[in-house]
Amino acid sequence: MDYLAIRSFHETSVALSVTGFALRGGASLAGARWVRGRVAKTLPHVIDTALLTSALMLVTMLRVNPFATPWLLAKLCGLVVYIGLGVVALRPTVARPVRAAAWVAALAVVGWIVSVAFTKTPWGLFALI
Ligand code: HEM
Repeated sequence: MDYLAIRSFHETSVALSVTGFALRGGASLAGARWVRGRVAKTLPHVIDTALLTSALMLVTMLRVNPFATPWLLAKLCGLVVYIGLGVVALRPTVARPVRAAAWVAALAVVGWIVSVAFTKTPWGLFALI
């Protein structure tokens, strides 16, 4: 399969995942009910599965070990933090200010992951300072 096509698929999944999370987080904080609906709960799993599958395909095609490649390891760690903050941000039982802080922090972390992807250093945008 074509590497560039898979990378485009990966980038598209990233864009959909981040846009979806930003919308769901904002709507959840505003008290919107659609956030608890079936589509809003199922679709993110489909998109995130596509994101991770394409990431695995890319590392397989590049023949790199993500645990021995600092910028990929940084992305993996960032992904775990992004998911954890995302869970807090969308959990209705958590206090609203905490959810708001987690939502902003999750968006900042995913922004940093994107900068790691482009700079290919574990520092990401901090490497540019
Ligand atoms: C939320 C998580 C992620 C985000 C936001 C993200 C973002 C991106 C972006 C924007 C690119 C395009 C970079 C470019 O065109 O130079 C990219 C490429 C790539 N990503 Fe991800 N990614 C994520 C997760 C992962 C994970 C978990 C892995 C594997 C450990 C991974 C592996 C790769 C690889 C191998 C490339 C191709 C690099 C290249 O061809 O130059 N990504 N990612």
